[in-house]
Parts: sequence; structure tokens; C-alpha cells
Amino acid sequence: MNSWLLSYEGFDPASEGLREALCTLGNGRFATRGATPDGELRTAGTYAAGCYDRLDSTIAGRTVTNEDLVNLPDWLPLTFAAPGSYWFRPERADLLEYRQKLDMRHGVLSRALRWRDESGRITAVRQRRLVSMADPRLAALETTFTAENWSGPLRVRAALDGRVTNSGVARYRDLRGDHLTCHDTGDQNGLTWLTAATRSSHITVALASRIDTATPAREMIREGDRISTEHVLDLAQSEPATLTKTVALATSRDSASYDARSAAIRAVRLAPRFDVQVAQHTAAWERLWQRARVDVDGPELSQIVHLHIFHLLQTLSPHTADLDVGVPARGLHGEAYRGHVFWDELFVLPWLNLRFPETSLGLLRYRYRRLPEARAAARDAGLSGAMFPWQSASDGREQTQTLHLNPASGRWLPDASHLQRHIGLAIAYNVWQYHLATGSLPPWCAELLIDIARFFASLAVLDPTSGRYEIHGVMGPDEYHERYPDASSPGLANNAYTNIMTVWLLLRARDTLDLLPELAASAQEQARWDDITRRMRVDFHDGVISQFTGYADLLELDWARYRGVRRLDRALEADGDDVNRYKAAKQADTLMLCYLLTSDELVGILNRLGYPVEPSLIPRMVGYYLDRTSHGSTLSAVVHAWVLSRSDRARSWQFFTEALFSDIKDVQHGTTAEGIHLGAMAGTIDLLERCYLGLEIHPDGLHLNPLLPDRLGTLSMPIRFRGSQLFIDADHRQARINGVPRPTFVTGRQGEPTMAATGDLGRRIAQHRMRLGLTLEQVAERADISPGYLQYLEEQPGTPTAETMCLLAGALETTVDDLLGGGIDQPPGRGRAKAAPTLASLDRDECLKLIEPGGIGRVAFNGSHGPTVLPVNYQLHHGSIVFRTATGGPMDQDLRTGLEGVEIKVGFEVDRIDEAQREGWSVLVQGPAHHIPPDELPEVTGSRVTPWAGGERHLYIRITPHQITGRRIHHL
Ligand code: BGC
Repeated sequence: MNSWLLSYEGFDPASEGLREALCTLGNGRFATRGATPDGELRTAGTYAAGCYDRLDSTIAGRTVTNEDLVNLPDWLPLTFAAPGSYWFRPERADLLEYRQKLDMRHGVLSRALRWRDESGRITAVRQRRLVSMADPRLAALETTFTAENWSGPLRVRAALDGRVTNSGVARYRDLRGDHLTCHDTGDQNGLTWLTAATRSSHITVALASRIDTATPAREMIREGDRISTEHVLDLAQSEPATLTKTVALATSRDSASYDARSAAIRAVRLAPRFDVQVAQHTAAWERLWQRARVDVDGPELSQIVHLHIFHLLQTLSPHTADLDVGVPARGLHGEAYRGHVFWDELFVLPWLNLRFPETSLGLLRYRYRRLPEARAAARDAGLSGAMFPWQSASDGREQTQTLHLNPASGRWLPDASHLQRHIGLAIAYNVWQYHLATGSLPPWCAELLIDIARFFASLAVLDPTSGRYEIHGVMGPDEYHERYPDASSPGLANNAYTNIMTVWLLLRARDTLDLLPELAASAQEQARWDDITRRMRVDFHDGVISQFTGYADLLELDWARYRGVRRLDRALEADGDDVNRYKAAKQADTLMLCYLLTSDELVGILNRLGYPVEPSLIPRMVGYYLDRTSHGSTLSAVVHAWVLSRSDRARSWQFFTEALFSDIKDVQHGTTAEGIHLGAMAGTIDLLERCYLGLEIHPDGLHLNPLLPDRLGTLSMPIRFRGSQLFIDADHRQARINGVPRPTFVTGRQGEPTMAATGDLGRRIAQHRMRLGLTLEQVAERADISPGYLQYLEEQPGTPTAETMCLLAGALETTVDDLLGGGIDQPPGRGRAKAAPTLASLDRDECLKLIEPGGIGRVAFNGSHGPTVLPVNYQLHHGSIVFRTATGGPMDQDLRTGLEGVEIKVGFEVDRIDEAQREGWSVLVQGPAHHIPPDELPEVTGSRVTPWAGGERHLYIRITPHQITGRRIHHL
């Protein structure tokens, strides 16, 4: 099993939706579902981050407004037909083979099929698709056809299709989804384009498409909302023929753009050919994986870990940082939850902080930009500070639906989930986590945290009778409880999660003011905050924290009757009952406290509030609520795996596995097809890191407190903590930071000095290791560091500590200076070649291949002041060496004979010395040098040769090789 691949055999209409979601390709700016480019059984979806539109619909006699992440025009359609046959549709074709493969390492989705038409002709089709991580405007689909037992014309039709609506979620089909209007299509210099606008947010969306194939388009079919081109490929039996469709997507939300249409056309015109696109795209993915890798043992687990990180980065990549968007709960992978932004970022940002802090910051800035809206919402509610919406989309106004459909009963029901005010706590928690992970707290982040603190402080009202602060009219994370049984209005009192996290937040607000006193809150306000942190109300019953005031009076549910039912709210309502009446939770609520706070923190807060609890409260509470939770949200398994990790490791692993399988196995039966569960995907990876590896970030530094589950043999990952690149690895014996066992890492004054090595450090280590004939394990043992870290250093640029470098140099019997490439500014070749070197002659073709990429060479000639050698930047142009030099300079003077047709013979040498590998080669070209005549210049200037010394060098010289020789030195 290859843990980087997700493979599917056969065409299975029933599982297409799931495949489409899991095979979505995206780059953090936009994503396209893995729908087939052909056929009718497809739920096509292309979604651009932040592209929302609002429409009114009439439901149950009421007008409701919904804001959707808009399904954009479809760039994928491409189908084909053999002579006299139908257009290919997988659902009704005679398929001899059908395979689909998602390469998660390189972000390429491929499909291979063989199809027999009505006349018995067999055609093989291979497709590769990407949504470029290198150029986030581009996507491409390459199709290669091979006629296996026939020859003749194959028609191929490629389209841009604007007849697209939001209709990917059955539950929403009574709501309007026709967000696109004002379609237009056209062509320009062989490219086709399509534009449309969103109906009420007036975002212009443009697609432009370029088809690269041997034969030009035979026909263009231009309709108002769709444009297609038809191509005829003359297939010769067994000879593959390829057609590539490259597409650019632009919107009027883009920066650095004049208008969407011209931006799309320009981007697609300038797009390189497909193989170059693939190379750039895969290189971009390699760079992401260097930062994002998390290594676990076992191929199946690795595969899911890769899948989760892959989809996380496809939704939230470095390209996202600048887009003014939040964390869409279902990725850019489908229409469930309408692309809205909930509190799920709580499960996402902690992982991003340690790898892509600029992306985290962009996501926090999405909240900050909506602070005025949140302040207005608080003001309207008669409160202070900032009240963020439970569901957010474009402008930060509340987007939670007021009615939702219960598919089990078919009834539309009032929805009060906007009362989940705890969303603000999640944002503030993330601000603080960002600060702890990066060591930085931009003033605007601090302002965000303080305004949220003000809001929660204003929600808390002192009850004179009990002398305690209370928070009324809210909901906790458990969406089964939005009101008291039979109450006329929604809202609960003293949700423990909200109350205790408010205390935590007010304590962090105090820390924030210590860091940034200019944010001055009045002494009176601070005194009130302090008072709340000492007198907030928390209810208890049966020796556990009560989820909210009055929870103890609820009924026990007949769990046997509803065994296996995840959405009890729907099942009970369909049975004429109401889940609000029962001690039953959709997901972790009170237990969220144990997820976000260490037991010391939680017990500390409760003691501060005057509740004399002991740490033994926690396992009691875990058991109590676990018995009363139906796990109707994929987030629930993540939280429970976490809270059980120390007390019941087997059960923790069970929940972890369930969270891992949430999407790949679609545990909620059909919901993944409507979009991945991004919070659970990220939560599982975060859990590996912060829970099982026990990587805790405290103000004083990083603490490692691992407890690997039995099923996890080893776990390792690079992280970036407060500016230091670290590699953490652990097994059941110990955990190590940069290969050395240690429980804490502190940066700053007490921090350990790290060494900046050149990117060749890894190659030098590997070379010395090979020289000594040692394995990774042997060198690691000699240096007393972990083999995992050594391997990491060999593969990726790292910043080892001075101590580690000394240990490594000793183990490799060399010096630190040598390992660090200290001789980099000195003449090359100071070290000797490897032991037992051999010198091999290279033939002409090998020589040409070596010098083909161009670069720096040296021209040798008999100059007026004696033998002369000068470096030049050269390119190989039609087999000749071409370079630029200054008119009137030494080369111009000395290489002119003044006689027509008489040239001077020169030498031209290119060499390479690989210091790390201790080998090299040199190529010598001999031949006449010409000044390139003016009529040939335009062609040569197109080769983009630049002068080595820069500046104005207008003289182009060509050396025509008469003789090419070369040698390579390597060892056996
Ligand atoms: C959960 C929420 C979550 C939302 C989006 C709901 O089912 O109850 O906690 O934020 O899904 O993922």
C-alpha cells in the first residue's frame, strides 16, 4: 500500500459523491471536486474561498435569506466520441477498465479507463488533473487517448459551463441556488472565455481556457452560458495523442487585477505547457510537505494522515493568507453548511500555527476585519465589546439559518443555534495560541482578544442573591440543548463551558494588557474582570460539573432504544419528542474544558472560583458525559479521544480511529459527499501532536509530555516554534527535540544557539556517512541523537544546535566547519575526490545533455594581452553556445578578424564540482566564434540569454561546436 495514494477501482455511481469530495483538488484559493469531466452522474463543484452570495427563498410560508459559497462555472467538462458513436459517459459505457488515483504528495488526480464502443473499438484514456499550488489561478486537465484496435478520427469536446447552481445538498433543494447570472461567453486568439456574476454580491467570475493539441479546434459552439470547442484527433492505432485543457479562474475579488475576464485570459495565455505546470505544481507541494509532514508508522494510518493534511492544505494554504477568508467548516469541497465559518478553526489553527503561521494570521485577520460588525452586534444586543456570529461568511453578519429541515420528519423547524456565543471564546483562544506558538502578538490581535473579553464580561451579570456572576440566554457546543423543556424562548443559563472559558479569557485579557499596556482598560473595568474570575457561577450535580443550570433535572434517555443513532435531535423530533428534555449531548460540551485546558488549569480556575474540587473530578466527568453523548458531530470523536488519552488509552484510540475514518469511510453515511469535515481532519493531526506527542506550549517554552498509544510505535514531525525550526520525534521510550531527549525547549535568552547551515548540510552528512560506510542508526548512535532526526537533517534544511553539530561532526569524523559548508566562499575543489575515484570520458551527447540547461561557462581565447579566460552566462541555442557581451569590450575587440567569413577558434568550458558529493565533471567545446548578424538576432534574443555581469550588453556571440569533449570524475 502506498500511503501517498488514494485509489479507486471501477466506476461506482453510488459512491461517486464520496469520491468527488475526497478527490477534490484545491490550492487554498479555489477547489474543484473530483467529479468526472464527462457523463451525467456528477456533482460538479468549483468553489473559490470567500465567494459568497445571498438569496431569499420562501420556506414554510416565510422568507428566509441564505448566504452560500457559490458553485462557480464548471471548467472541467470534456468528453469524446469515436466515429458514429455517442459522447462518452462512464455511466453507460462498456468499461473494460476504470481506475482513479489521487496522488496526495504531488496533488495530481488521475483517471485511467478503457472503453469499448458499439462497434467494438477499444480506446484507452489516461487523464491527469491539477489545481495549481504554484499559480493559484490555474487548473489543468491533460487527456491522452490511445486507439488500441483501430485508427481514425476521435472527436473531443471541451467546454466551460456556466449552467451551474448550488444544488449539491439534497436538504437545501427547497432553497434557491441559482446564484449565477449575466453570463457571457466569447473567444480571443484561440482561447475561449466565460463570465458570470453572482446575483446579489455582484462578484464577477471569469474562466478562460486554452486547449493544447496537435490539431486546431474544428468548431466552436458558443451559447450564452456555455462555450465549447470541438477538436478532431486523428488517432493511429496504438499511438497516443494528447489534448490538454488549461484553465484560469479569476474573480472581481482578486487583488492586482484590472478585471476578471482580462485577468483570466492573460493568465491562461501565459500559462506554461502542462508538463511544466506539473513540475511547478509538484515542487510547490514538495515545499508544503517539508513543513507539514507528520510521520507515523503503519501505511494505513499514514495514508489517512496524508489525506487529512492534504485537504487541510488544499483549503488553507499559504495562498489563503491574503484572501480575507475564514475556515470553512466543510472545506472548499462541497456545499454543506453553505461554506460558512463556525468555531471549527479552534481545531485547525493550533496545527497551522506551528507550520504556516502566516496562514493562521490571515485567518485571524478575517475575524479582525469583521470586528466592527461584531461590535455592532454586541451594541445591538445591549452589550459591550465584540459579539461574533456563530456562522460567518462574507461580511461578518450572523448567517445562521433561522429554519432548518429535519430530513427525518420533513419538517422545517426554528433554529436558535446562533446563541452559541462561545464562538468568541474560540477566536480568543486561537489568538492566544498563535501568540504562544510564534512569540508574537500583533496589536490588532490583542485588540481582538480584549474586545471579545469585554463582550463576555458584559454578558456576565452579578446575581445579588448568590453573589455569583451568571451568563444567561446562550447555548454551549452541544446543539441538542438550545432551550429548557417547554420554555417559550431559547437559551440556557450558565453553560459551564462558556462560563469557565470566560474566566480563562479574562485571565488572558489581563496577560494581554501586561504585554500591551497601551490597550489600557480602565482600572474599574479590570477590577470587574478580576471579580468575575473569582465569582463566576458553575453548577455541579452527582459530583460532576453540570452542563448548565438545571441540567440535573433533565430526564435520562432510553439509550437502548436509540442505539447507534447519531442525530438524536432529528430522530426524537420525528417521533414527536424533543431532545431538549434529556441528558443527551450531540457532542462534547462540558468535556471541551478538558480539551482546551490542562487539568491543572481547569482545577486551578475552579479553585479560584471557590469550588474546592480535586483533579479526580475530571475522570468522573469524562465517564459521566461520555455515557450521555451520541457523537452527532465528527468533532466529538476528536475531543473524546483527547480527553481519554491518559485515563483509557484503548478507548481513546477507538475514538481517534473513528475521527480518522470520519471522511475516508464516511461514517455519517453520506455527509462527506457534501464536503469534508475540516475540523475533524485537522483535529486528528493536532491530536497526534498536542495530545499523543504531548507537545504543550506554555509561556515559558515548549514542553514535551508524550504518551503514545500502544498502536502508535513512533511519531515525528518538524515544527517551527517561535522562530526555531525543530524536529520532534518520540517512541515509547522517550521523546526528543532535535534528536536529543529533553522535556522542554525554551527560546530567547536562555535558548540554545542554532547553526545556520547551507542547504547542502544534509547532503554533506549523507556523503560522510557513506564515506564511513555507516547506517543512519549507527551515526545516530555515535552522535547520541535519534535516527529520525538524522534522517530529517539529511532530507531537509534544518537548524541544528551547536551541540548537535559538534556531536555529528565527531560521529562523522569531520569538522563542524566542513559540515556547515564553511568553505563556500573559497575556490571550489579544496577537498579531495572520494576514495578510489575514476575519471570517465563523456561522449558528445552526454556532454550536450550536461550543458543543455545553460548557466555559467568560461570562454578561452588568445586575447590581445595574451591567453584570456572570461566567465559568461550562456544558453544552448540550436546546438550552439550563445552568450552576450559588451560592444567594444575585450571579447568584441579580440574576437573580430575584420575578414568576412574568417572566424577565431575559441575554447568554451563548463564544469561542475559537487563539494558535498566530492565528484564533478567538465565539458570542453571548441569551435569558431561569430558575432550574430542582426537578421538572426530576434530569434536568438528569444532564447532569453542574459549577460553574466548584468547591465547593457548588446553583442551576441555564437560558438559553433566543432568538437565537444568531457570528463566526469566519480568513485566506485
Ligand atoms: C457541530 C458544530 C460545528 C458545525 C460545523 C455542527 O454539526 O455541532 O460544532 O461547528 O457542525 O462543523
